[in-house]
Amino acid sequence: MNNDPWQIHHPDGAFRVIVTKSLPGRRWLDILTAADCRVEVCRSTAVLDAETIKSAIGRRCDGAIGQLTESWGATLFDALKAAGVAAYSNYAVGYNNVDLDAATRAGIPVGNTPGVLTETTAEMAVALTFAAARHIGEAERFLRAGRYTGWLPDLFLGTLLQGKTLGIIGAGRIGATYARMMLQGHGMQIIYHDLAANADLESFVADFNRFRVAQHQPPVTCRRAASVEALLETADCVSVHTVLDDTTRHLIDARRLSLMKSDAILINTSRGPVVDEAALVDHCRHHPDFRAGLDVFEHEPVLAPGLAELTNVVIVPHIASATQWTREGMATLAACNVAGVLCGYPLWQQTDILPFFEKDPPHAIPSIVNPEALGWSGQRA
Ligand code: DGY
Repeated sequence: MNNDPWQIHHPDGAFRVIVTKSLPGRRWLDILTAADCRVEVCRSTAVLDAETIKSAIGRRCDGAIGQLTESWGATLFDALKAAGVAAYSNYAVGYNNVDLDAATRAGIPVGNTPGVLTETTAEMAVALTFAAARHIGEAERFLRAGRYTGWLPDLFLGTLLQGKTLGIIGAGRIGATYARMMLQGHGMQIIYHDLAANADLESFVADFNRFRVAQHQPPVTCRRAASVEALLETADCVSVHTVLDDTTRHLIDARRLSLMKSDAILINTSRGPVVDEAALVDHCRHHPDFRAGLDVFEHEPVLAPGLAELTNVVIVPHIASATQWTREGMATLAACNVAGVLCGYPLWQQTDILPFFEKDPPHAIPSIVNPEALGWSGQRA
């Protein structure tokens, strides 16, 4: 039996590309092999450490696709540079696991996979919101444990979200989509905090209100909060959609949790370290009516002590983007990022990435996050 976790496709390809995990679907592989890449895929489900990845990069390599669970820092970018790598792509839209300065110093473009996670991740935020508001996890465990002895007037009383105030921290693509889902579906009033006003979201709400008024329904509101604090004090449910960087680490800490309503709901589908998880455990212990829905954790895959035992917390293992369409789409974009650089294509200049899923995808690189730092013009260096 072959115990080598690395599976090789198109062995005689002119370029050598390593992929640190098996990816869903086949299209991504077809894209790379059509670009004449020998593709080496690690089939192990274990998170690869830097030494293992470095030895996989070896002496000669042209491209790499890595995971958000791996730390792509100076050691790996120096190894990629020494091996002659032309492009790295993260299999994720977020790239907090990548040292961009180190990549840029090594002259390596870093790709990511935006545009295919938006609705999928927003839908998971919606699912967690309702799971937390209606005690879904706790009620299911209760039922499965054989503790249901019959309907009762006060069994698992939850919170009606219709018309309540929803706070969005980070009204980018995913945050704004979640906001639209909650205000269209559930008439929620929106308050958001972001560095810049989201004019598209605000004009969407204005248009939606014309429709509501025509239907004899009261208009909903959408306003930008002056501060995170003002949002936390006002909202009945708060959902976090920021990137993780030095300005957002522990953005939600003990002090800010204490500003929230005692029966508020906190949702996090962004990155775990944005919430101080130990502080959240403490807060949930002392505020039994407070609820949280978490897809991400501060020290994944390890949970803060006590978190798993809390009945007022709903937890899922970082699966917000886990639909077949999205995960295959992420693989396609990551492959197009690497193949596009190897083929000398220009950067894609549109935000709509759906053309990459059509029969004849554009001859372009979908998404590179450090083009300016590399001195690339729109048409590439
Ligand atoms: C991403 O792409 O950054 C997501 O967290 C994956 O689920």
